Amino acid sequence: MSSTTACDPIALLDERFRKAIGVALGDESVDADPIIKPSGNPQFGDFQANAAMSLAKSRGMNPRELAQKIATAVDLRGVAHPAEVAGPGFINVRLDLDALGAMLGSMDSANLGVPLLADRWGVTVDLCGVNVAKQMHVGHLRATIIGDCLARVFTRLGRVVHRENHLGDWGLPIAMTLAALRRAKVDLDRLTLEDLNVAYRRAQAEGRHDEAGLAAAIATHAGPHRVIELSIQNDDARASIDDAKRTLLKLQGGDEELRRDWQKLIDCTMKEVFHAARIMNVTLGPEHSRGESFFRDRLGGVVEAFLKAGLAKEDKGAIVVPFSDRERPLLIRKSDGGFLYATTDLAAVRFRVQELESNRVIYVVDARQRDHFKDVFDAAALIGWDRLPDGTQAHITHLGFGAVLGKDKRPLKTRSGENFTLMDLLDEAVERGTAEVTARAQDPNAPTHGLSAKELREIGQAVGIAAVKYADLSSEVTRDYVFDLDRMIAFEGDTGPYIQYAHARISSILAKSGVPISTIAAAPFRVAEPAERQLALTLLRYGTTVRDVADALEPSRLCSYLQTLANAFNAFYQACPVLKVEDSGVRLSRLRLCHLVRRTLADGLDLLGIVAPERM
Ligand code: ARG
Repeated sequence: MSSTTACDPIALLDERFRKAIGVALGDESVDADPIIKPSGNPQFGDFQANAAMSLAKSRGMNPRELAQKIATAVDLRGVAHPAEVAGPGFINVRLDLDALGAMLGSMDSANLGVPLLADRWGVTVDLCGVNVAKQMHVGHLRATIIGDCLARVFTRLGRVVHRENHLGDWGLPIAMTLAALRRAKVDLDRLTLEDLNVAYRRAQAEGRHDEAGLAAAIATHAGPHRVIELSIQNDDARASIDDAKRTLLKLQGGDEELRRDWQKLIDCTMKEVFHAARIMNVTLGPEHSRGESFFRDRLGGVVEAFLKAGLAKEDKGAIVVPFSDRERPLLIRKSDGGFLYATTDLAAVRFRVQELESNRVIYVVDARQRDHFKDVFDAAALIGWDRLPDGTQAHITHLGFGAVLGKDKRPLKTRSGENFTLMDLLDEAVERGTAEVTARAQDPNAPTHGLSAKELREIGQAVGIAAVKYADLSSEVTRDYVFDLDRMIAFEGDTGPYIQYAHARISSILAKSGVPISTIAAAPFRVAEPAERQLALTLLRYGTTVRDVADALEPSRLCSYLQTLANAFNAFYQACPVLKVEDSGVRLSRLRLCHLVRRTLADGLDLLGIVAPERM
């Protein structure tokens, strides 16, 4: 048995059946997929091999006869009972009890059966991507937690992961805020996020000019009052934009004092971002920040490289990269000489592939930026920046996520109609989690009964954040979903707290048993009852599931796995007494099963970035 198949029945059966198909059909069919699936009905077996039907069809053979040939040829000694053919040509397999026990035993190791993908190249995950001088909103929730989850999963699979927080920290919006703060003479050493928001909003409002409105007012002979009002507004807007442009030029020119003020704005914003990251249990710190400003000295080089390669051309003073398959070219330098969001992203792709040496780059960014990334990735491919220094092709993906909606199916807003800031949302989740946990602790039989308010709050935070994160991660990445805290925070159903609760419950069973973990971990597995068997088979899918999450970039698969595992555990616990069973061998085996489930739940929750409390 190779190490990946040691605790993965599907991989093991795949290997055995591949050989059998080769024997039954001759060597040229050795590579036919045996199509091993978990059995639809446990009465017939644990797994089925479904390949006979399609293989027979393409060869004009009788499917049942071919199935019988394969079933006779397959070597399942030491793995399963003899294979049985059923229906039009299904081959049913029931694992042998000793083999099942051995697989559980090999899963019960440090890596829980998660395979290690040896690869010398890195994986870059573009996550968070907040804009400086603006509060984080719910969109950044998704960019942050989906990105963090994928980074954890790839790390778990043994890959070198780079978390890249591509902050919007360079360009006109931040220069507008900076200019507005300086005009208002705000003391930047005492800058609060609230000042920053006010200045940002004021700068945006001041900069909004309405030439069309003014023209319309004149054309429709609106009263002179209105015309004068609009033209004053327009002049003000132009003045504040001019001020912002001057500020930006000075900043870009390296003005020391401005540079210091700019840094203060960034520090103020990032303080909140890192605070939110800690509350969300997300791994994100200053070491992951590499904002747009990092690439500022490379933008000229990007444009030159495209021009030199003959891939860009001038268009009315601007520089664009045309594509052969579509009208819309990619603008990389404006006619006034300014660079764009896309120019920065081109520099960033090159950096990630060629300097961070990543053969996998994943952009966890709002789905609405799809066109932007298509253009950037296509342009990068034209110039060869999607290749590592040794020519290896990197796999670059925009993982565009859907929106978070309110119960009215419209973008989530607060009651007063404003955009939900991420902090509002997190505060509410922690409040609700704490209320829920505190209420449950009133029950004298609850394991949390008698804990201090501080301890309850800690658990409450874990529960509230789990509710929000699980609800987000369990819906398919590209879909929109409805934010409904009542549903998310429930201890029943497809929720984070439900899985945390299963984990806490097992923790207390193990504690109650009084048996030392070392004794439990050494007990032989004896898996006989159907519910036990179902639980064991579910456990053994863990490694494949984690791998699948990385391949599909779909954390929801881990969520549904953990949900299934928690359900299988509850069914097992209902059908099979653990502490009260007579036979001490069976008791120890069941305790070990509990222990393995607990470890798997904790590990899976950790990959989602969810804390698993011992008591709830
Ligand atoms: N700051 C951008 C925004 O809020 C997101 C950055 C995404 N990453 C990137 N490499 N463009 O829209």
